[in-house]
Parts: sequence; C-alpha cells; structure tokens
Amino acid sequence: MPRTLVDNIGLLVTNDSLNDGTPLGTIHGASFLIENGVISWVGQSSAAPRNDVAKVIDAQGRCIIPGFVDSHSHLIFAGDRSEEFRARMAGEKYSAGGIGYTVGLTRQASNGQLLQNARRLIAEANASGTTTMECKSGYGLSVDDEARSLVVAKQVTDETTFLGAHVVPQEFKDSPEDYVDLVCGPMLDAARPNAKWIDVFCDKGAFTTEQARRILKAGMAQGLLPRVHANQLEPGDGIMLGVELGAASVDHLSYFDDEDIQALSTSNTVATLLPAAEFSTRAVYPDARRLHEAGVDIALASDCNPGSAYTTNIPFIIALAVRDLHFSPEQAIWSATKGGAIALQRTDVGHLGVGAKADFSILSTPSYIHLAYRPGVPLIDEVWRNGTRIK
Ligand code: NIG
Ligand code: FE
Repeated sequence: MPRTLVDNIGLLVTNDSLNDGTPLGTIHGASFLIENGVISWVGQSSAAPRNDVAKVIDAQGRCIIPGFVDSHSHLIFAGDRSEEFRARMAGEKYSAGGIGYTVGLTRQASNGQLLQNARRLIAEANASGTTTMECKSGYGLSVDDEARSLVVAKQVTDETTFLGAHVVPQEFKDSPEDYVDLVCGPMLDAARPNAKWIDVFCDKGAFTTEQARRILKAGMAQGLLPRVHANQLEPGDGIMLGVELGAASVDHLSYFDDEDIQALSTSNTVATLLPAAEFSTRAVYPDARRLHEAGVDIALASDCNPGSAYTTNIPFIIALAVRDLHFSPEQAIWSATKGGAIALQRTDVGHLGVGAKADFSILSTPSYIHLAYRPGVPLIDEVWRNGTRIK
C-alpha cells in the first residue's frame, strides 16, 4: 500500500486533545502518514515510520491545520444582490424580504447555470482552505425548483439541506399555512431523495416557531435530520426548538439569553455562529464568551449566500470571530474545523487523527494565529483533500 509522509511540520493542529491536553491537540515538529486518503499515523517527526514511504511532502516548518468544515452555506442560487448591499451600507435595514429577489432569478436559471455557480463558489472555498461544505436549497420555493436545487446541491456535496422553509414565496403571501402544507407534503417528498438535513428559517419575516416545529417534524418523520436558522433578526424560540428536537445545530444566534445558553449547554446541539452575516448586514455581533464559559460546542461557518453574507472565506470568518466575537485564536480554529464537523455529525473530518480523512491546509506561516493576526492576507499555501492536493 503506497504511503505518503507529510514531514517537517513546524506546528500541527490535530484537534486530538490527547496530544497536548488542549482541544487543538497541537504537536511541534510533527509528521503524519497518509494511506488511501486517510491518516494512518500521527506524531513527532523523530518517531515517524519511514519504511515503505512512496512520497514525502516537506512542510518546511510551516503550520498545518485540518481542512475547514463549513457547516452552513446557501450556494444554489442565481444572480447577486450588490445593489441591496450598497443600499444597506447607506443605512437600509436587512430583512428576509430580499430573499424573494434571488428566488425570481433562481427559478429562471437552468440546472447547468446553478451548478456552474455552485462549483465556482466551492472552488473559491477550497482555495481558502475549506474541504467539507454543507449546502442548502431555499431559493426555489416551489416543488420543482426545490427538487432541482437539491439535485444540483447533491452534485457538489453529500451535506445537502432542504430549506423549502426559507421564506413564504410571493404567491402564498396571503396563505402562509398553505405554503407550510406544501413544504411538509409534496415539496418534502420531492426534496427528500437528495437531502440529508432539513432546515427552517425561524425568524422575523420568515416562519413562526409553531410552523418551524411542524416542518422539522415532517422532515424528521421522513428520515431527514433537523437544523435551524434561529435568532438572526430578533430574539425568539428557535434555539429552544432546536434543542427540543435534538437538532445537530442551531445557526446564526445573533441573539440569545441565559435560558438559551442553559438549554444548549445541557444538549448535543451545536451553536453555529455566522459572523459574516453580522458583518454584511451591519448587525451587532454576539459575544461568544458567554457560550464558551457555559461549555457549549460552537461552530463557525460562512453562511455564504447572495444576500446576508456573500463570502466563502473561512479565514475572514476566523478573523471576525477573534476580533469581534471574543474567540481566542485557538477557539476560532477549533470551531471552524472540529466544531463544523460536530455540527454535521461527522467524525471523519475536522481533525487529523488516525482514521480521519487526509483533509488539511498548509499555511504559509509558522502558526495558525496569523489567520486572525493578518486579516485579508491569503495565507493558505496548499490544500489537500482525501490525500490529494487540490490547491
Ligand atoms: O442565512 N437567514 C436566512 N437566510 C440567509 C440569507 C438569505 C438571503 O438574504 O438571501 C442567511 O443569512
Ligand atoms: Fe443561512
């Protein structure tokens, strides 16, 4: 079996706390072996097995981190909303209503155009160190357009999410309960073959907690796993609903209170923070210290979408998390890797331990701290996925 040795790593982040007693599990002067795209040995370079090694990759003392696991994105859409962004920066408020504009363009686009756009964004994400990406539907909002959005999503990732309950489309404006019936019935049936997850935008101008509960339960009854867009635009019950239903993750959380923190800290539900959305909608950032102090698992993700957060760049998210959400650099790296993996209930990604996929980035710097310390600078030298170099 051909083995590849990644050698001479100045600082390796494994996310295996057995290595150094901290969540990042760092090793100075490290090496690891790859066999069949999977890590088969990790440790000090001095102890690395060097027999039967077909190829050696010399990291030249640089830092290696696990590939980013971006557990929240909306990549199946057409067009952009740069004029809406301009108006917002001039003082307009963000609202869920803008989604309808993208729905109109998405419905007119062919599957090929939607796929090309999603692939463009995935390529962008890969180049900045992302190796696993979740992707939602939610700009079709009809049975056929949601179904084909998921056909396209499934061509770019296995982490596909049915978000038929993004907003109530214009044609159901006066009968939102009929739209909920459609989502829970024919739309779910059409989406289910290509979806792993079901999500609902439970917030102002989108769906109520009661509607969200009904939709998530319908999806769960068909074998989909729940996750929730909660408390982005105003405080609400979305976090409590996610915990109640055993959601893998509740996402956004621009607002949360002590009761939410208490519920999260005694659950297996991850809190996924999306600071690019606060950045691009000029909203107030949540203070992550309160979640960290309560021992809540936190993921950081891009939320890439044409309205509230049009970026695929996780190093940018890390910089925001450290600067504005009060993460330490270590917490931010963990949340963008292992935290994202937990939010997707994946054990094969988000860490560099034996048995994990060989998904990793070689930085141009000696430490991961530089990802926050040198914001906006492209520091991801190489990206590897399943043991193959993709950048
Ligand atoms: O996660 N919050 C709901 N959905 C997206 C925004 C969608 C849009 O504005 O197009 C989000 O931020
Ligand atoms: Fe989102």
